Parts: sequence; C-alpha cells; structure tokens
Amino acid sequence: MTTNTDTKRHVREFYDQVGWQQVSDGVYQNARYEDLRPVARDYIQSCHTRVSRHIAPKGRYLLDAGSGPIQYPAYLEYSKGYDKRVCADISIQALREARKRIGEHGFFVVADISQLPFKSEAFDGAVSLHTIHHLPPDDHIPAYRQVHRTLTNGSSAVLVNGWHMPLIGRILEAPIRVRKWFRQMRKRRRKDKGAREGTFVRKYNATWLKNELGQYMPVDILVWRSISVMVLRTYVHARLGGRALLRVLYSLEERFPRFFGKYGQYPMVVIRKEE
Ligand SMILES: C[S@@+](CC[C@H](N)C(=O)[O-])C[C@H]1O[C@@H](n2cnc3c(N)ncnc32)[C@H](O)[C@@H]1O
Repeated sequence: MTTNTDTKRHVREFYDQVGWQQVSDGVYQNARYEDLRPVARDYIQSCHTRVSRHIAPKGRYLLDAGSGPIQYPAYLEYSKGYDKRVCADISIQALREARKRIGEHGFFVVADISQLPFKSEAFDGAVSLHTIHHLPPDDHIPAYRQVHRTLTNGSSAVLVNGWHMPLIGRILEAPIRVRKWFRQMRKRRRKDKGAREGTFVRKYNATWLKNELGQYMPVDILVWRSISVMVLRTYVHARLGGRALLRVLYSLEERFPRFFGKYGQYPMVVIRKEE
C-alpha cells in the first residue's frame, strides 16, 4: 500500500533527480510541461502577470510555496516590492536553483506545504503555483489552510493548479486523445516502451474545491490560463494565425474570468484572510 509519505518521497525524488535538472542553459527538464514556442509567448506571459493583480504589491515577506527554482522571469515580479521572498519546497534541488536566481532576496526552506513551519500571520502575500496537485488527496485542503493561516489579516494568496478534465479541455482535447490512443496502440504493437515517466498528480474540479474550502475562508476562482499545453501545441501555430487566436482567447478570458476559471484548464484560486 502506498502511504502519503511514500507519495511525497516519490515527488521529492522526481524533482531532485529529474524535474529540476537543467537540460540546457537555464531550462529545466520540467519545462517540457510548458509551451515555450514564440507563438505562445505573449499569451503565456500575460497569464503569468494575472497573479500579481491579487496579491499585495509590497510587504515584508512573500511566501512562494512549492517555489521550484523560480523558473520563469515573470515569477520574479511577484516579490519585487517585498523585502524577502520565502521559498518553501520539498525539493532541495529546487531551493539550490532558486537561491542561484534570487540570492539575498530569498530565504530558502525545505518544507511541506501541508505542514508549513511558519508562524501564523507571517506573510503579507503568498503564491503557490502548480504544487498542490502533487499532494496526496487528503492533504489538498490542509495545504490551502496552511497558506491561509500564515497570511497577515487583510492579505491574500494566489494558488494556481489544474482541474481534472475541465469542460473546455474535454472538448478541445477529445480529438487529440483519440489520435494519441491510436499512436499508443501502434507503439505497443512495436513493443516500443519509450514513454517518459512523470510524477504523482491529483486534480479536482471547481465545485469540489469551493464546497470544501469555502467553509474555511473566502475563495474566488478566476482564470489563470484556460487551455493546456497539449491544446496550445495542437491548435496554435504561427502560420495559422496562432498569435491572433491567442489574443482573442485572452480578451475573452479577461471578460469572463469566472467562467474560464471554472471550465478552463488552470484556475487561480484566490484566498483572503479577513481583517
Ligand atoms: C510543477 S513544480 C512547480 C514549481 C513552480 N511553482 C513553478 O510554477 O514553476 C511543483 C513544485 O512543488 C514542489 N512540491 C511538491 N510537493 C510539495 C509539497 N508537499 N510541499 C512543498 N513543495 C512541494 C516540487 O518539489 C516542485 O518544486
């Protein structure tokens, strides 16, 4: 039987040994989960900047829970107005890399987001990007509550994660999944076992999260990015007007942030500590 401790150990080992190893200058193995093509750059950059709208622009300490190595330059913006960015991660390799990036601006703490070793009301803002989905199911709500506990009164945190099979993803990914299934069948016939392994991921949906979390704190679910990397790579191409397509999508997301937050791929879960 796999215990919660085993799951976390596997995740930590994955990031120490694989995810946060550099594959080229400043690019980590983990970046294969992102669309780094020029055609998607502006859209992805604009989505990153959405996070800053919901945390205080300045303060003493900003918590980055599951910081990784702070792998994209856009991430540096979140703590620009803060005295220190406190990077907490279960991967020591993540923290070593984060320290290379921000040096004296950071504190680096090996910690589990579901049992944060910080006193209550320590942070004037917090972010946690793509981290909670790595936790065993029982630890998801405790992790949100830990981040909430450590916020100062009146401040807020943004947690970005993916949903499990959201409506927009189900529609756009259906043809891709069928094609993948055929490819896999062909590979299996050729006994090709080339698939690369990732690590443990568990995702939920917006209704579940609102019900579970809403009893403890005010929660707002807004769009971060409504389409997955798989959808981007399949449908968005420079020669087919990809940039314009993404501009239209971005303005729709801006107009209907709660719709795209609920039914799109990646929401921003904004939590607040009431005064
Ligand atoms: C997908 S990466 C995201 C990193 C970074 N936030 C980003 O968006 O690039 C997930 C990170 O969460 C960390 N992590 C996984 N489980 C964790 C836990 N229980 N507590 C703290 N960090 C955790 C991993 O070590 C990894 O660095």
